[in-house]
Parts: sequence; structure tokens; C-alpha cells
Amino acid sequence: MSRSMIAIVDLGSTENAAVAREIRDLGMYSEIFNFDVKPNELGALDGLAGIILNGGPNDVVDGEKIDVDAGIYALGIPVLNVAHDARSEYSAWPGDRKAVLDAFIEKTGKARDWNTDSFIESEIKLLREQIGSRKVLLALSGGVDSSVVAALLIKAIGNNLTCVHVNHGLLRKGESEQVIDVFRRQMGANLIYVDAVERFLTKLEGVSDPEQKRRIIGSEFIRVFEEEARRLDGIELLGQGTIYPDIVESGTKTAKLVKSHHNVGGLPEDLKFELVEPIKMLFKDEVRAVGRALGLPESMVSRQPFPGPGLGVRCLGAITRDRLEMVRESDAILREEFDRASLAGKVWQYFTLIPDTKSTGVRNNARAYEYPVVIRAVNTVDAMTAEVPEIPWPLMKKITDRILTEVPGVCRVLMDLSPKPIATIEWE
Ligand code: XMP
Repeated sequence: MSRSMIAIVDLGSTENAAVAREIRDLGMYSEIFNFDVKPNELGALDGLAGIILNGGPNDVVDGEKIDVDAGIYALGIPVLNVAHDARSEYSAWPGDRKAVLDAFIEKTGKARDWNTDSFIESEIKLLREQIGSRKVLLALSGGVDSSVVAALLIKAIGNNLTCVHVNHGLLRKGESEQVIDVFRRQMGANLIYVDAVERFLTKLEGVSDPEQKRRIIGSEFIRVFEEEARRLDGIELLGQGTIYPDIVESGTKTAKLVKSHHNVGGLPEDLKFELVEPIKMLFKDEVRAVGRALGLPESMVSRQPFPGPGLGVRCLGAITRDRLEMVRESDAILREEFDRASLAGKVWQYFTLIPDTKSTGVRNNARAYEYPVVIRAVNTVDAMTAEVPEIPWPLMKKITDRILTEVPGVCRVLMDLSPKPIATIEWE
């Protein structure tokens, strides 16, 4: 099955990904290519319907102004040359960009055949072709990307997929239970649940430096996963939740660098896996749409970003079990109340964290020396900058009351009002 597609050639635009998304929104698949792509590489693409030469301000590489191989014009494929002929004026798309793209797609005369269902259908075929009767291993964290990869692989190869869910004790309330419920009970997946809570918390005891905490959590995770992999026989492939922004994030010229970062970094040499990356050409909103179409619960597909080291970087300083429970419980209350107030889709990320300093309170007419909890809620587009949205005061009071009465050991609730920059989103 060949699907129509538009190739976007990056001639220094800062908006390649935005253009690619808009084209896909208009129903045609699109991909971004480096400025030095060869005409025959483009010509060999299945279903190539049009080419966009996407000029922009970053048009000098290694001291030379970049340009495309003129052979591209000889391919006989419609070419849209954006701001490129003007040479000095790279900034503007003529008029309304979406309308320009819509007209260009129309001009190609090719079918608008990019949608969630057509992606799922063709990806499942491709997965079956790549995998055959071989077995695939997948680290299933319960995040959006790994969950959608799991759902696709279950559909494509059923029990030839083995999922490993490692509970490192730093997940949010109910997360491991949801992974087991959705994948093992509802989807019948072959799921290995590894309770590594004690192991992680013991390793982290007394460690207060945030970067060292991250390193321990990262390397211990790989070690646990590797032990599970060695226990299983005859697995040749490893599923990965790489998505398109991982590849194109900072321009196509960095694609190789970002990719290697997302490969099986750290797994030992003798554990050689071929990679299976079924969502590597999808943007995040497309990943969510695929998840919904495959029947994953909304709470899983619309999940907010959550750092790999989890609550480990929200339990400030050296992690203690009592404070870890306080941050987990207060975070669950915050999420529940934001959900109830229908803020879930309106605020980008919200969570609680707990400092490692006590403060004075009064409980049952006696002095109590307990912990404060901090609420962090931010809106952002790309997590590079962020602002604090206004949260209705009655809701803040309700959340505060609930945390103070329901979470033992907490006597104070604070709200972080700092934008990024200067403050980062996480405290560690
Ligand atoms: P900062 O704190 O840098 O966070 O403003 C930006 C975004 O990245 C998330 N974050 C992490 N994600 N591993 C991750 O996978 C990490 O170590 C990590 N630290 C921060 C953070 O939650 C926010 O969405």
C-alpha cells in the first residue's frame, strides 16, 4: 500500500515540524529531510506527491549558504518553494500557511489518505513483516509512548510480545496497578511485573544530589531490565517508544545524534537487540490518537509528562519512605481535584513535591514539627519556558484542606508561582 506523502526539505526553517504537523492535519503524510537529500532518494519514496523547500533563517551551515540539488526540480513532482526565491527574505510564508498548504496538497492531485486508522492498518502490516515469528521485549512504563507501542504490538503479534513493567517505587499512585489492569487483564498481554521497590529505595538511601539520584535510578533500571531479559529465552527484538520529535527536535541536522541517545543506551554488548520503533514517525498528538483508537483508557493516553526518575526528583534531597508516601498521596489528591474541576486538559503539568525541611504546625493542641508540600502547576508549549496559570482560589483551598487532613505528616501547603525561567519546572 503506498501512501501519499509530502517531503519537506529543511533549508534552515525553524518551523519544519509545525509545517509537517499541519500537512498531516490536512490529511496527507509528511516527513522532514535534510537540505542535502539527493534527488534520487526523494524520487524513490513511495507515494511522493509533492516537495516543499522550506527556507528560513538557519540557512548557513559550516559557513556556507545551503541550497538544494537542482535535480529535485527534474523529478516531475510539484515543488512548493517557500520564501526561497526571495533569497534575502526567508521569514514569511505567503499569507495563511494552512491555506497555502491546503492548496498545494490539492494541486498534487493525490489522495489525502493519512489518518489514524490507515496508520494502524499499515503499521500492523509492517510490524508483522519485520518481526515474523520472532519475539519482542518491551519496557512498559505506563507512559503514553510505551503504552501505545505495547498496544500496537499486541495487535500485531499477540503473545510474541513480552512486556516488562518495572515498579521502582517512584511511580505515582495507582500507576503500576493501571498498567497491570489495562495490559494484563483487559488486553491479555504477556506482562512481567517486577517489584523492584526495595532494591531502588535501598540504593537511593542517603543520596541527596539530584544528578546522582538520576544516575542511580537510570542505571538501576537498566540493570533490572537486563536481568529480566537474560531470564527470557530467544528474544531478538526490543520495542522502543521513540517518537518523531525525538528525531527532529532541534532541526534535522541533529537527527543522528538524538537517535543514538534514544537507542538502547547502556544495555550490555552481549544483549544485542534489533529495534522495533512503530511510532517513530508520529507526533505526540498522533500517538495519543492511535492509543485512543486501540482502546487505551483516556487517563493513559492523555497523561501529562512525568520524568523518568519519577517521584525521586520530587522528594527533595535524600529520599525517605515517609516523605515519598506524602508526595505520592498529596499528588493523587491534586490530580483528583484538577480532574474534577476539568482542569486536566487545560493545565499542561501539575504535581506536588516535598522539601526535606520541616516546619512548625499545631495538631491536636500540640506543637507539630511536620513537612510542607509544594504545588507546582505550569503551562508551556515546549517545556523550555513555562508560566503559572491562575488556579481558582476555592479549588486551591479545597486541595490544601484535603492534603492537610488526609496526608499524615504534612502541616503546610505552598504554591510555587515562579515562571521558567528563572525557575525550572521540577525542583531538582
Ligand atoms: P525542567 O525541570 O527542566 O523540566 O524545567 C522540563 C520538563 O522535563 C521533565 N523532566 C524530566 N523528564 N527525566 C525526564 O524524563 C528527567 O530527569 C526530567 N527532569 C525534568 C519535567 O517534568 C518537565 O516536563
